[in-house]
Amino acid sequence: MVRFTQLHQTFAAETEDVDLSAPMNDALRDELVVGMDCHAVCVFRNSAPVEDAHHLAFGRGFGPLMRQKMQQTVSGRGIRLSTDELVDVGNLDEDGNIHAVDDPRRAFHKGNLLWHSDVTFDAVRATYSILAAQQVPPGGADTEFADMRAAYDALDDTQKDRIEGLSAEHSIWYSRILGGMEAPSAAIKATRPPAVHRLVQVNPRTGRKSLSLASHASHIAGWPVADGRRLLDELTAHATRPEFVFRHKWRVGDVVMWDNQQTMHRGTPFDDTRHPRDMRRVTVLESGEAS
Ligand code: OGA
Ligand code: MN
Repeated sequence: MVRFTQLHQTFAAETEDVDLSAPMNDALRDELVVGMDCHAVCVFRNSAPVEDAHHLAFGRGFGPLMRQKMQQTVSGRGIRLSTDELVDVGNLDEDGNIHAVDDPRRAFHKGNLLWHSDVTFDAVRATYSILAAQQVPPGGADTEFADMRAAYDALDDTQKDRIEGLSAEHSIWYSRILGGMEAPSAAIKATRPPAVHRLVQVNPRTGRKSLSLASHASHIAGWPVADGRRLLDELTAHATRPEFVFRHKWRVGDVVMWDNQQTMHRGTPFDDTRHPRDMRRVTVLESGEAS
């Protein structure tokens, strides 16, 4: 039995009971899926940084892993990590140096400071993201999470009815430009076309509804852009009210797993031109139908 300690009133829990270096069996996987359906964010504490091979194997236990080439696309440069199944979320370049001030990957990462769920800009969505802290800067560079189930539940019936049938269009380029990145060329944009997803998602195992938003969401499908953006802004302000938010303070060795279909998250600023931050993510994709 994995014992979880709840970290927030409605979601987020931590445990020291899972050894990520041990192969995962089906019983543990099923137990963690139930745990994730309950808590939506799980913090696994480890006394030392988790090895990439263990991190990848743990992620694969939950489904196919996303491969990510976007950082190479925007920078025209190589990757630091051994495989593109590991998303490099820190501020180090392929030589292990802190990103230069004008490195396009730095501007690309700034988009992570906006509330989002991972990969909503693709038709095939991410289920879990699993982020491992290898090196943490002074001051921490915390990550915040918002419980999108509690946020949905707190809407009144009129608001729930209004959004039930709506969908939003999501684009990585929309959130990156919002985060301050220069607009990419049409050729680069074409490497990642937008995707459309419903605003209300239902957990297939629990039947529980969540709000599905993200800084990638540019407008409501079929609505005038300004009206859709206003609605998305209102819903985001609601969903990220302090009572729905948990803030994780990283320690080296922490692995945080979150359900992208039940939560949003964002990074918080730190002095990223001075201090190294080495964070590596594996991203599990849903294997069923796109929505
Ligand atoms: C991510 C992400 C935020 C952070 O890994 O998907 O958004 O604090 N990270 O690194
Ligand atoms: Mn993210």
